[in-house]
Amino acid sequence: MELRYLGRAGVKVSPICLGNMNFGSPACDEALSRKIMERAVEKGINFFDTANVYQKQVSEEILGRWLADGGAARRESLVIATKVFGKVGPTENDRGLSRYHILRSCEASLKRLKTDRIDLYQCHHWDTAPIEETLRAMDDLVRAGKVVYWGTSNFKAWHLTEATLKAEAAHAAVPVSEQSPYSVLNRHVENELAPFCMKFGVRMLPWSPLNGGRLSGLYRKGKPIEDTPRNKSEAYRKALEKNMDLLEGLARLADELGRPLAHLAYAFLFRQPHVGSVINGPRTLEHLDESVAALDLKLSDDVLKKIDELVPPGTAPDYVGW
Ligand SMILES: NC(=O)c1ccc[n+]([C@@H]2O[C@H](COP(=O)([O-])OP(=O)(O)OC[C@H]3O[C@@H](n4cnc5c(N)ncnc54)[C@H](OP(=O)(O)O)[C@@H]3O)[C@@H](O)[C@H]2O)c1
Repeated sequence: MELRYLGRAGVKVSPICLGNMNFGSPACDEALSRKIMERAVEKGINFFDTANVYQKQVSEEILGRWLADGGAARRESLVIATKVFGKVGPTENDRGLSRYHILRSCEASLKRLKTDRIDLYQCHHWDTAPIEETLRAMDDLVRAGKVVYWGTSNFKAWHLTEATLKAEAAHAAVPVSEQSPYSVLNRHVENELAPFCMKFGVRMLPWSPLNGGRLSGLYRKGKPIEDTPRNKSEAYRKALEKNMDLLEGLARLADELGRPLAHLAYAFLFRQPHVGSVINGPRTLEHLDESVAALDLKLSDDVLKKIDELVPPGTAPDYVGW
């Protein structure tokens, strides 16, 4: 798998990042999570993404035990990303992007991950804490060697612009990447964040590339819906129902190419110049394999035009889920 730069950073990552959010869920226990991580490495993925809140910290713990079992060789071959923001304790200060919380949260993640550094530490969401305080905390962690690079997630373009310009002015470490919800079904980021990324050299790490599985190809018009761990909620089903014509249109386009819809969805993201690495979300080995199998699909201008007709650039249907 050909590696590319992680946004403004000099380190190189695979075009697919292994999303660890399912790891430790009832449907993806530790044994299966380990198999998925091992298969990902075999396939050439060197970039893993977790968060301090995934599966109530269990996702980080599973990754940490697996890293430790593989010794330095395993750890040193990987770029490990995690996040800070979500509430992890009973008090008002056990959340957010204050210096107080970031420094404590970083220590807790390092312990769970059984490592001496986080390669990419991401602000999971924008916060009302003063941005100068957040920047300084990130810069101090970088200077202390506990964090190698930092990035953001779910930030608006103006959040990132402020963070970047203030960090540059303070000669502090700048954010190198931004994780956003981005898929062929949800193209909002193309309006502001994508041009920001191109201008400032930041690269986007799309999350929910299959829109939480709605673009997996399982959902076709007239076909009964089989239960999966994610699709049982009322909100999920509603977003499916409302967008069934659109999903069918995209699935037919994939049929014309002789490929599964998931391949079309991944390939659409792989070819965006503002995208650094696409974060998949496998719950099974087959899900992982499908994301890797999509790498050789190059979408023609004609196919992209047809996608634009179904979901115009910068838009998303009214009820997209996320
Ligand atoms: N920064 C953030 O705020 C944020 C938010 C969300 C996620 N993330 C990151 O992004 C990663 C990916 O997000 P996501 O899990 O929502 O991605 P996704 O790929 O949109 O959804 C993953 C789900 O889609 C289904 N799926 C995936 N591949 C499939 C396939 N080939 N065939 C059939 N179904 C398939 C599975 O659903 P079932 O399990 O129901 O079968 C799977 O759990 C996460 O692991 C996490 O690292 C970040």
